[in-house]
Amino acid sequence: MCSYRLHAEYADPTPLKVRIDTHEHYSERPDDPIADVLTALDLTGTEDLADIGCGDARFLAHLASRGHQGALVGMDTSPAMVAAANAVPRVRGVFGSADRIPFDDNSFDVLTARHMLYHVPNPVAALREFRRTTKPGGTVAVVVNHPGTHPHTTELVAAHAATYGLDVADAVTVDSDTLPALMSEVFGKVRIQRSDNALVFDTPDPLVRFAEALFTFYGVTPNHPRRQVILNDLREDVEDWFTHHPGRTWRDPKGYIVATAVVDHQGSAPSASM
Ligand SMILES: C[S@@+](CC[C@H](N)C(=O)[O-])C[C@H]1O[C@@H](n2cnc3c(N)ncnc32)[C@H](O)[C@@H]1O
Repeated sequence: MCSYRLHAEYADPTPLKVRIDTHEHYSERPDDPIADVLTALDLTGTEDLADIGCGDARFLAHLASRGHQGALVGMDTSPAMVAAANAVPRVRGVFGSADRIPFDDNSFDVLTARHMLYHVPNPVAALREFRRTTKPGGTVAVVVNHPGTHPHTTELVAAHAATYGLDVADAVTVDSDTLPALMSEVFGKVRIQRSDNALVFDTPDPLVRFAEALFTFYGVTPNHPRRQVILNDLREDVEDWFTHHPGRTWRDPKGYIVATAVVDHQGSAPSASM
């Protein structure tokens, strides 16, 4: 992903919030990645935990509110997200990148990287950092989307951006097809929990809101001079679709995996090629 777009996308927590809220309210089946990560981790509440690419820190806020006693660290490349983490009582926000984590070896009992690894240009370098900073016997949990998740909405946004000469978003660097092998290379045994679902919209407004929250990935940045025109065109297109498909819903398949690995006690990676 072009780093300018990535920084612009996460400079303000609002589009991320819109996307998370949309998944929460417009999914075919209950969509709760936080609950899935908690199931995978089975925390005691005493672990020192780092959430890498913490976003608006809602995972850490959830842990703090249920009385987690261990240290809670939220790390992100976006100053706005670091500020969001620091605003949560008992959470420490830290600026840093997943491929160069500003913590010593063996700092954490648990490390999570939820819906962020696909933004990192070299995901294996990040996975090695996850391993380095997690204590032997500690757990690393990584969440990534299925390849081509919600393809219809993605195509809709890409097509409207392309109309105004904006190129499509760069491919994500890792997805649920490729993560298991990368994690095995770094950690050895990996456990996978899979969630298959779909976004379902039966009116234009929430779909338009969700599409707009993807704009920056396609070069339609917040201050792009044609942003409002592109949004108006897209809205017209979506309203036409509902008018021409009476009684139908806009259904867009999506999903993710939670991949969990325990850091072995040897202190070195399992692969000789590492
Ligand atoms: C899709 S959001 C996910 C946020 C949160 N983990 C969640 O699931 O709600 C991706 C987050 O990763 C952050 N990010 C992107 N590249 C990063 C990197 N190299 N290191 C750390 N954080 C990064 C972004 O700033 C953003 O907050």
